[in-house]
Amino acid sequence: MKIAVIGTGYVGLVTGTCLAETGNEVVCVDIDESKVKRMQGGEVPIYEPHLDVIFERNINAGRLSFTTSLKEGLNHGDIIFLALPTPEDEDGSADLKYVLGVAEDIGKLISEYKVIVDKSTVPVGTSDKVRESIAKNAKCEFDVVSNPEFLREGFAVDDFLKPERIVVGASSERAINLMQKLYKPFVRSGNPVIIMDERSAELTKYAANSFLATKITFMNEIANFCEKVGADVDKVRIGMGTDSRIGKRFLFPGIGYGGSCFPKDVKALHKSGKDAQYDFKILESVIQVNHSQKTILVPKIFSHLGKDLRNKKVAIWGLAFKPETDDIREAPSLYIIEELLKAGASVAAFDPEAMDNVKSRLGDSISFAKSMYEALEGANALVICTEWGVFRNPNFNKVKEHMDQKVIFDGRNLYDITEMRSEGFSYYSIGRED
Ligand code: UGA
Repeated sequence: MKIAVIGTGYVGLVTGTCLAETGNEVVCVDIDESKVKRMQGGEVPIYEPHLDVIFERNINAGRLSFTTSLKEGLNHGDIIFLALPTPEDEDGSADLKYVLGVAEDIGKLISEYKVIVDKSTVPVGTSDKVRESIAKNAKCEFDVVSNPEFLREGFAVDDFLKPERIVVGASSERAINLMQKLYKPFVRSGNPVIIMDERSAELTKYAANSFLATKITFMNEIANFCEKVGADVDKVRIGMGTDSRIGKRFLFPGIGYGGSCFPKDVKALHKSGKDAQYDFKILESVIQVNHSQKTILVPKIFSHLGKDLRNKKVAIWGLAFKPETDDIREAPSLYIIEELLKAGASVAAFDPEAMDNVKSRLGDSISFAKSMYEALEGANALVICTEWGVFRNPNFNKVKEHMDQKVIFDGRNLYDITEMRSEGFSYYSIGRED
């Protein structure tokens, strides 16, 4: 099938590349000329495991190409995916200026039937607005479909190629048939393509992300409570998670959820509630609890090292908001670093992928180490912010050799408490005995 993908951010690029992988001919459109040039030259502009291999394969096979011309993309595609940014407005709602701007241009440019598919996370009712914006100028038939994506950064390729479900919000038979045909190769295992109306599809995405954010936040509160009453959250988690109604996944407590999706989507759903005179009390609490969870380690650091951290060096392992990504949006590490710097500490950080992004945000205010052990040199404490695989089983002798004081604040509960004691560390974690 012939596809155009408008917007080559994280969602658009993964969508375009994975659709090409199943034999479709895909043209990706972006207004950023230099990025388009780089992609035409075979460079993947984001870090996402396994994307580079299929990206190169499909470019070489002539199934995946890039252009800055919206017209060229629209002439090529029968199905047009919109994967445009929906940044957070000042009041927390999703800003639709990019989506609706492109929709208006599409109306001016199309001359035969197209299916316009919204992949961005957009508030309920956006498909109607997109339809209206296109209809202002369109001289031919078209359909608008809502097809939210459920990709996780770091696993996006696998999530796209083997989805648990695909949600399609559409009201025309013609569009539904095309979408089912497009996604058939991805659901051969029997996972469903769930067809519903557009508004329900739009809300499904917000409801799913907000539910997961709530699940994590609930566990973070249980962890905080465990510390007060001498229980161990890891045991509680396993005890709870084995109930299949609860499930084992997304129960890991830590230093709060981050990234480009959960924080933005929870706020946007909360704001949509307000606009509809509905007060989402639960989401209000989730937002507040998550905010304070990001710095939950800071009082522990102060009570061990003192509040004045001048002449203290703190090492940070992990800057990205989660492993397998270089994304630092809403990363807890940034909030912790800010507090440490305010208290006068010098900070040395190591992250396998995210250091360049933090460098462009924080400049020289912290130092960046070439290795996880180099970051520990002369440190009075180590703070673990991201559970990268390399941090899970370090050489503790090396850790001890490099550090001045043997103190670890672990925001991701990576290590066994008894083992850490026998290694001679003062070890603080989340929801477990200190
Ligand atoms: C999330 C959703 O999982 C995807 O389904 C969705 O498509 C995506 O948002 C999106 O809307 O685009 P993502 O933000 O990539 O994906 O990351 P997750 O793996 O879901 O993690 C989100 C945050 O929750 C991270 O900060 C992670 O550290 C935290 N988390 C996750 C926990 O603190 N505990 C857990 O048990 C699981």
